Amino acid sequence: MGDFRIAVLASGSGSDLQSVIDGVEDGSIDGRIVVVISDNEDAYALTRAEDHGIEPRYVSRKGLKREEHEEAVTAVIQEFDVDLIVLAGYIRILTPAFIVRHRGKMINIHPALLPLYGGPGMYGMHVHEAVLASGDEVSGCSVHFVDENVDGGPIIAQRTVPVLADDTAETLQARVLEEEHRLLPEVVGLIAAGRVTVDGDRVIVAD
Ligand code: GRF
Repeated sequence: MGDFRIAVLASGSGSDLQSVIDGVEDGSIDGRIVVVISDNEDAYALTRAEDHGIEPRYVSRKGLKREEHEEAVTAVIQEFDVDLIVLAGYIRILTPAFIVRHRGKMINIHPALLPLYGGPGMYGMHVHEAVLASGDEVSGCSVHFVDENVDGGPIIAQRTVPVLADDTAETLQARVLEEEHRLLPEVVGLIAAGRVTVDGDRVIVAD
């Protein structure tokens, strides 16, 4: 395992986290996850971390202002000296201060083909419902660097999936998620290998 140090932030089940764990364990990511941070004490993501010998950290929001909570998260990130922050189902919108502080080393995975179906309110099932309502024949997932715009920021890679005539939001979500589990570890692997650079709004992936 390489020296590249990854923190994953997750609020929920953590299946995207699991795809990165698998990528580290099978050697396709030359790095390691040093901490999994969650704002949800019951997140299954924390259990997954523990099961794989990764430090789980629950950072409570109780009694804290948004900025104070982000300070606490930043303290953990600094404690673990991380090279990359992966938002994998971290459902809170981050403040500009947090984003600026970690700019260029924080990525997010979104279950649609950004810039379509992104922005405030576009999370979880809402995304897939909106895709179905639009009649689009294609959806997919995107991994992007995080900037001050919700679901904005330079896109690193995307994958498409077909939208089928009899899809429900649930079946579409499952198909997109399967693709997320391929795309996310691939992108993390490229970043860990030093192959991804950003030039303004453009992302360059070296061969
Ligand atoms: C995924 O759909 C991802 O695109 C979005 O949050 C969901 C996380 O799912 N950002 P899981 O908790 O990793 O299973």
